[in-house]
Amino acid sequence: MKVLIKKVKDLTKKEMSFINTNRLKEFGATVEEWQKDYLIADTFLIKDEEDIVAFGMLMPIKIRYLNKNYNILGISSVISVERKKGYGKKIINSMIDYAKPEKKTLIGFCQKHSKKFYEKCKIKLNKPLLKRFLYKNSINKYEDYVIYHEGKDNLMKKLLSTKLNIRLNGPFW
Ligand SMILES: CC(C)(COP(=O)(O)OP(=O)(O)OC[C@H]1O[C@@H](n2cnc3c(N)ncnc32)[C@H](O)[C@@H]1OP(=O)(O)O)[C@@H](O)C(=O)NCCC(=O)NCCS
Repeated sequence: MKVLIKKVKDLTKKEMSFINTNRLKEFGATVEEWQKDYLIADTFLIKDEEDIVAFGMLMPIKIRYLNKNYNILGISSVISVERKKGYGKKIINSMIDYAKPEKKTLIGFCQKHSKKFYEKCKIKLNKPLLKRFLYKNSINKYEDYVIYHEGKDNLMKKLLSTKLNIRLNGPFW
């Protein structure tokens, strides 16, 4: 099955409704609650005939660190409706491929129950770093790890080489 990539703003009503229902079920929030900027995110969809069986999103995120701006991609909303069939891994592999031409860094957050899945997808995890990502002076209380795939900007290496906080301009994705 192929992975279809679409901007959030180009999703059909049916696709958006499916994503919102499943985001609400898994994470307690819908896409509609996101800020307007996030509508330019890319959605990764796997469909079985007409039905979505897995999806995920990549959001353009700006990070300012040590007086430099970094344009990264934020891994978000990875959900497999039919589990353990390889769909989740296919979504992550497709995100990694998508980031390849510009060699962008991918960063996201996950709970401990998803740790093994991300390890299998060759995504790196870091626990202490989570406490250094701040939005409005608060840490992310719902997740356990920062997940990442390093790009050519070597942002992760740079973040891990200091103990400084990373202040986000927008909310956790
Ligand atoms: C996490 C999630 C996306 C995984 O999707 P999936 O389609 O079931 O995963 P895959 O079938 O692609 O699994 C890939 C590998 O990870 C392993 N894996 C998947 N979930 C696992 C789990 N909970 N514990 C241990 N290993 C797991 C699989 O066995 C597989 O291993 P293999 O490559 O050796 O065969 C899915 O469980 C899910 O939607 N969870 C709820 C939402 C969520 O928490 N998403 C993460 C957001 S950060």
